[in-house]
Amino acid sequence: MAEERTTVVLGVTGCIAAYKACEVARELARADVRVKAVMTEAATHFIGPLTLRTLTGEPVVTSLWDDATASRVFHVSLAEEADVFAIVPCTANVMAKLAGGVADDMLTTAALATEAPLVIAPAMNTHMWRDEATRANLAVLRERGAVVVEPASGELACGDVGEGRLAPVADIVEAILAEVRRARDLAGVRVLVTAGPTYEPIDPVRFIGNRSSGKTGYLIAEEAARRGAEVTLVSGPTTLPDPFGCTTVRVQTAEEMSAAAMRAYAAADAVVATAAVSDLRPAASEARKIKKDDAPASLALERTPDILGEMAAQKGERVLIGFAAESEDVIANARGKLERKNLDLVVGNDITEAGLGFGSDRNRVVLVSREAAVEAPVQSKRAIARTVCDALAGEMQKKRAATPTDTPEEESR
Ligand code: C5P
Repeated sequence: MAEERTTVVLGVTGCIAAYKACEVARELARADVRVKAVMTEAATHFIGPLTLRTLTGEPVVTSLWDDATASRVFHVSLAEEADVFAIVPCTANVMAKLAGGVADDMLTTAALATEAPLVIAPAMNTHMWRDEATRANLAVLRERGAVVVEPASGELACGDVGEGRLAPVADIVEAILAEVRRARDLAGVRVLVTAGPTYEPIDPVRFIGNRSSGKTGYLIAEEAARRGAEVTLVSGPTTLPDPFGCTTVRVQTAEEMSAAAMRAYAAADAVVATAAVSDLRPAASEARKIKKDDAPASLALERTPDILGEMAAQKGERVLIGFAAESEDVIANARGKLERKNLDLVVGNDITEAGLGFGSDRNRVVLVSREAAVEAPVQSKRAIARTVCDALAGEMQKKRAATPTDTPEEESR
């Protein structure tokens, strides 16, 4: 099972702290992680590739043209091999390239091509670290989900004293290993995600819908797939592309979403129901466009199926996570939903908060379980996807710990 080892691609950039990347490589190798080092040309002026090669037991890549004989496109295969992509130390220059999508050497090309989580440990002169350009690049990278191991304060190689020293090796290793654990923590778990709004037709051109963009659900689907889950995404109408690594089923109405979701539910271990399913639909939908002059003054409406409710009625050993968009008493309402629908977790948010939620890329959520209500800060929807997947992995672990094995103790005695 040697191939089960996790792979960290360790990018090393041109900075005096490059020698500390050797310690990081050694610690990761000690933790039974396969480390594939990639160096920028500048990094090779500070440390020799042979050092990293010896510590990792793997070839070290220093150029886009290193392996011209490889049968696969090399930077892409390296990007795909990565369970975690770490850059230690990461210079201001490489941060800028990553933020701008520049891919002009092996490290930045592989970093652009990878789907793996990115961990960066910046190190630079304190003025460079504080420069507005660097701050802006850092914010961009964070927003996209990069884990940043912040530099420490102290004496710098240039003689200045201040922020910019590479973070302690132990902190960097811990941050990378935390991502390594995350990289496989949903391995083999069959996750069903519902997302987006539903459109309930009034006639062929008009419908009842809502303002859900589907973003959070798509990001959760993608994050779960990245962490090893087999993901089916059942999505109402959105403008988003299919998320990477998932099976996506597109539907329009609540009825169609219910049918597609219940089909996938049979084989699911967990459900994350982010869809803003329309609660009501026209009791009848016209086959022809209703003319303005014939339009009724009111519409007769009826309830749509409660998809998550149906699932909960046949829950079995599954983990069920629901969402609650509320305009008041978020925690109390979320807990009510948790109990009424027999869910394991409800992710609540306050839809009245200006600039957050619908259509925005940011939101503030609270994770309500039977035991606790954990309030997260305002964060990007990508970070929320991570938080929800962390919670899902935690719930799966609890479930596994509580499920008796095939040979209970009494029988095996
Ligand atoms: O009770 P309420 O509809 O507010 O619960 C919201 C949760 O239930 C969300 O997770 C949503 O995706 C799910 N839901 C559903 N089918 C519906 C309505 C809501 O699956 N018809």
